[in-house]
Amino acid sequence: MILAVSNLKGGTGKTTTAVYLARFLPAMVVDADPQGSALGWSAAAAEEGGDLGIDVVHLPDPKLAERLPKADRLVIDCSPRDHRITDAAIAVADLVVIPTATTAADMDRTWATLDVAAQLGTPAAVLLVKVRAGTRSLAATVEALADEHVTVLEARIPQREALAVAWGRPLPPEPYGYDLAAAQIKELLHAR
Ligand SMILES: Nc1ncnc2c1ncn2[C@@H]1O[C@H](COP(=O)(O)OP(=O)(O)OP(=O)(O)O)[C@@H](O)[C@H]1O
Ligand SMILES: [Mg+2]
Repeated sequence: MILAVSNLKGGTGKTTTAVYLARFLPAMVVDADPQGSALGWSAAAAEEGGDLGIDVVHLPDPKLAERLPKADRLVIDCSPRDHRITDAAIAVADLVVIPTATTAADMDRTWATLDVAAQLGTPAAVLLVKVRAGTRSLAATVEALADEHVTVLEARIPQREALAVAWGRPLPPEPYGYDLAAAQIKELLHAR
């Protein structure tokens, strides 16, 4: 199973999602972002005396499909900017997971990311993150995605301070809904 975690907008929660999905699938992380955020997280966590419990390799390479590590499950953390690398990751993936908050700016790029996945022929599923229950933007986003028949994972990841400060540290045991997201992705891919 190869997942590409992508959104063409920066800061939507891709790296957080890639690391947490890898924790609960479980899977290896391929960091395809030249920024190296997932690799840096793993290294910083190790320096803190813990570790992420996940293997991370840095492969910010448009030819990454030829160089992927041999593992049953891979989660590729994509860059919002480097389109050649991101396109390569989406093309090789079985599923594109698109984390997005429900703000208008995040959703604008989410639609664009869905278009790229469709153009490259890879199925996609949206994961709502930084969710604030009961907000108007949540209701509007859920409705808009349903109107366009977009696959949306039932798991919703809440807005949490613990996730805002998670980078660079070992993962706390609380799954924040990523355990359910991982289970739903497995189901989705079995069904195909
Ligand atoms: N559910 C959440 N609740 C609160 N903060 C979150 C949540 N998910 C992610 N964040 C925070 O949002 C910021 C961006 O997250 P992250 O680095 O995962 O995004 P990204 O899409 O990988 O960014 P980039 O485009 O730069 O690679 C980080 O500060 C992260 O801690
Ligand atoms: Mg990132």
